[in-house]
Amino acid sequence: MLNKTVKLANGYEIPSVGFGTWQTPDGATAVAAVKEALSDGYTHLDCAAVYGNEKSIGKALKESGYDRSRLFITSKLWNTERGYDKTIAAFEKTLADLQLDYLDLYLIHWTANAKQFPNWREINADTWRAFEYLYEQGRIKAIGVSNFKTHHLEALIADSKIKPMVDQIEFHPGFMQTETVTFCRENGIAVEAWSPLGTGKMLQNETLKTIADKYGVSVAQLCIRWCLQNDVIPLPKSVTPNRIQQNIDVFGFEIGAEDMEVINAMEYCGGSGLDPDEIDF
Ligand code: A2P
Repeated sequence: MLNKTVKLANGYEIPSVGFGTWQTPDGATAVAAVKEALSDGYTHLDCAAVYGNEKSIGKALKESGYDRSRLFITSKLWNTERGYDKTIAAFEKTLADLQLDYLDLYLIHWTANAKQFPNWREINADTWRAFEYLYEQGRIKAIGVSNFKTHHLEALIADSKIKPMVDQIEFHPGFMQTETVTFCRENGIAVEAWSPLGTGKMLQNETLKTIADKYGVSVAQLCIRWCLQNDVIPLPKSVTPNRIQQNIDVFGFEIGAEDMEVINAMEYCGGSGLDPDEIDF
């Protein structure tokens, strides 16, 4: 049996499947998708300032009359807002847009990289000091990063007081980022998967289709369950009601060890192509 929540390094619990909101259009679509997700049993929303839809998500949360203590809300600091003072201001803006008075998890969206910044390490450390401050003030229940590879994590850990509790990375069949995941495991950092369906690219894969058929589930459900069985927290995105429902209905079957091995051994078959060391945004 899989647990429906995972304990982070500080003991705070995170629901093991989250609802992704990247590429969800702002306005009525975002409001409807979030309301659908909440009514289907999602309690974990993965948001970010750069997705441009946090105001709509805030509206959906407000109108749903939710019990805040049962929800887990993540947001991310965008790349233009790095640095101590800008981070604090960006955090306040996100909180206001979401109409919340605390966040469950706040992430540095992308590492500053050497390609763009000779002082990338200092920039990350400076940004992280603001995260530590907000965490110590109780404004954020857990803090972490996104799109950090091993060398970025090593530097940040060496330069700071509090270790990141989460690293959210691209993770789907054929793209498991094993080195980063192993480092996270060794350092008590929970791993979250963005684009667990490879932004939809996994859905036509013949190997996955064959295995999904065997369990009577969709390829999307198979990918989500595969993340869970690899101890990774999937954040599937959809704006389509029946898919939103389907993507959280992943606790009624178990992928056998042999099939896990087959999926774990899959070659790269598509993904975002974004490398944190190479990005120029
Ligand atoms: P849509 O939002 O139009 O429903 P990822 O989470 O890997 O980024 O993938 C998101 C993409 O996969 C979106 O295009 C989404 O479409 C699609 N998608 C999400 N869930 C399912 C599903 N259960 N079946 C088919 N496509 C899905």
